[in-house]
Amino acid sequence: DPSNTPLWGKWLSPGCPPPRVLGGLTRAIPRFRGSDPLSTFRWQGFKLEEYLIGQPIGKGCSAAVYEAAILLSSNYQSSEDSKPLEGKTPDTQWDHGSDIQAAEGKPIQTNQQRAAFPLAIKMMWNISAGSSSEAILSTMRQELVPASGSALSGEYRTVACHRRPVFGKKKLKPHPNIIQVIRAFTSSVPLLPGAYVDYPDVLPLSLNPSGIGHSRTLFLVMKNYPCTLRQYLNERSSDAHLSTLMILQLLEGVDHLVRHGIAHRDLKTDNILVELDSAGCPWLVITDFGCCLADENIGLRLPFTSWYVDRGGNGCLMAPEVVTAIPGPGVLIDYSKADAWAVGAIAYEILGLCNPFYGQGRSSLESRSYQEDQLPALPDTVPFDVKQVVKMLLQRDPNKRLSARVAANVLHLSLWGENILVPKSLKLDKMIGWLLHQSAATLLMDGLVDRSRVETKMKTCFLANLEYEDLWEAAFLLLSWRNHSV
Ligand SMILES: Nc1ncnc2c1ncn2[C@@H]1O[C@H](COP(=O)(O)OP(=O)(O)O)[C@@H](O)[C@H]1O
Ligand SMILES: [Mg+2]
Repeated sequence: DPSNTPLWGKWLSPGCPPPRVLGGLTRAIPRFRGSDPLSTFRWQGFKLEEYLIGQPIGKGCSAAVYEAAILLSSNYQSSEDSKPLEGKTPDTQWDHGSDIQAAEGKPIQTNQQRAAFPLAIKMMWNISAGSSSEAILSTMRQELVPASGSALSGEYRTVACHRRPVFGKKKLKPHPNIIQVIRAFTSSVPLLPGAYVDYPDVLPLSLNPSGIGHSRTLFLVMKNYPCTLRQYLNERSSDAHLSTLMILQLLEGVDHLVRHGIAHRDLKTDNILVELDSAGCPWLVITDFGCCLADENIGLRLPFTSWYVDRGGNGCLMAPEVVTAIPGPGVLIDYSKADAWAVGAIAYEILGLCNPFYGQGRSSLESRSYQEDQLPALPDTVPFDVKQVVKMLLQRDPNKRLSARVAANVLHLSLWGENILVPKSLKLDKMIGWLLHQSAATLLMDGLVDRSRVETKMKTCFLANLEYEDLWEAAFLLLSWRNHSV
């Protein structure tokens, strides 16, 4: 329906709220609201029955995601719809809610209420983890990698105390480009809107006689983001500066993971969420850690002893060293640059082209077999430095490939360090002067002016992870590319 097509060109013009695109609906994309909508509800949200659950907002291979809000005690009194919930068990409560929807075909809530769903709840489909909380938390522990400390204050703490080694969960510090799971708990599976249509087979017996799901599962609570990167890119094209900033954000996110010894292994535009910062710049966060490698004992080197060992999700975007590995005694797959490779492939989509590793036909490449000179040329509107970074991220040989850190540094220097890159004048004192200037400007911007700007967040990441070798490597690379091109 053309009347539903948003006018993306108007997005960044002042005073015009950008549209929100989810479930085919066009709504205004809200700007940054902080990453933890539950920060003022310290002791709440550890049980499913504390939430009001709205419409489905997404679905993947392993879960359904719903919009949600914390159910304040006043909601019970003020809302007619909530009244019948009092005194009921959680399961009957949700059954009741979805009955209303299914029977009358209208939303439980008014539009005004619906706009107030600041949270997203991911309900895992549990077909193999058993029904004990302990088994669920252990089997689905990768999903908990981006969970904040307080997210797990509920049952996980109690369970983990008894059996700490079972979980071996890696702790990931918060990062502007990584999702924060703000609550995680297990609960029995409720009947939610769309369940019989979208995922009947994974429902438990009690809800569907032919369902193969267990009766209990894991729930993850996050901030509700306006759209995924895939939806965002489908709806609009970005200029070179914004595209560069988007690639940089993915690199900063991946570098953060690498520093924590974690590989995401399922990067794709469906697993990246987007909102706009206060200046209208897309702010990207990597989500869905269900396929990640996060093991305290082995780090990023996975023993690949048989074909049964899980190498991660998304076969199309599996780095060459992962997809070509052959199992055997003593074989290790090194994931330290695998996510950086995937960012190189996703960069094509961000820069307005098709991902060269998707689809069939002669133009599509396979990560298993492509040669670097088969990679499609990027348009002339893409800055030279960005083209070089993408090319270097897609090197088959991980030893020749840029790490996420060095690639990010190259983009930082390219975006903001022009005056220290004048050929033949790369000097330590000039670099130090520039770094001091950047630090002061970033601190002032973040502390005094505006805390929610992507650009400032990126500069903070750059400065916080500064290492002499990585910085000089990036600077020399840039200079050598430029010298070669003249
Ligand atoms: N916090 C969120 N805010 C808004 N939409 C989300 C959020 N988390 C997930 N989604 C939507 O749900 C989809 C599935 O979520 P995901 O975590 O990727 O599940 P799966 O593990 O099944 O792939 C995503 O592709 C996205 O469309
Ligand atoms: Mg997913």
